[in-house]
Amino acid sequence: MAIKAVLRMGDPRLFEPSTPVQKFKTAQLNALIQDMRDTMASLNGAGLAAPQIGVNLQVVIFGVQKNPRYPDAQEVPFTILINPKLTPLDDEIEEGWEGCLSVPGMHGLVPRYKRLRYQGVDENGKKIDRKVADFHARVVQHECDHLAGILYPMRIRDMRNFGFTAELFPDEEIEED
Ligand code: NI
Repeated sequence: MAIKAVLRMGDPRLFEPSTPVQKFKTAQLNALIQDMRDTMASLNGAGLAAPQIGVNLQVVIFGVQKNPRYPDAQEVPFTILINPKLTPLDDEIEEGWEGCLSVPGMHGLVPRYKRLRYQGVDENGKKIDRKVADFHARVVQHECDHLAGILYPMRIRDMRNFGFTAELFPDEEIEED
């Protein structure tokens, strides 16, 4: 369909809570999902939330393929998650580096639940119910935060751990997500 412009931090639309999807298998929802897939792929992102392209609905997509450059990185299956509900499985919090297509060129160290269950539906209204940990859990929390109007810099505990990717990781090539 189309590659859309990604809203950047400062745009007030990124801070608005999104509303649940009510109707499935509609032309509008299919077009939204295709636009999100095209936009995420064009920017090599790990995930994208509908509000990032200016659509105020509870739709996120995410997925990370095995990359030979990052042999330790966890693979995350490509997922379309609608109307999500997240439940931490315990209290353990882990800090990890995140980037965001709405905060280009920057990274920050963000605390997230290490283990969680996520529930929701896919683009056909079929139930999704998974228990995940580590990077997969982090990606889901990051994307679902967008649906609550939260960008990752708002969760950073120590702002010295927020900065330009090229300054934080001068020797590495780090992909945005
Ligand atoms: Ni993001």
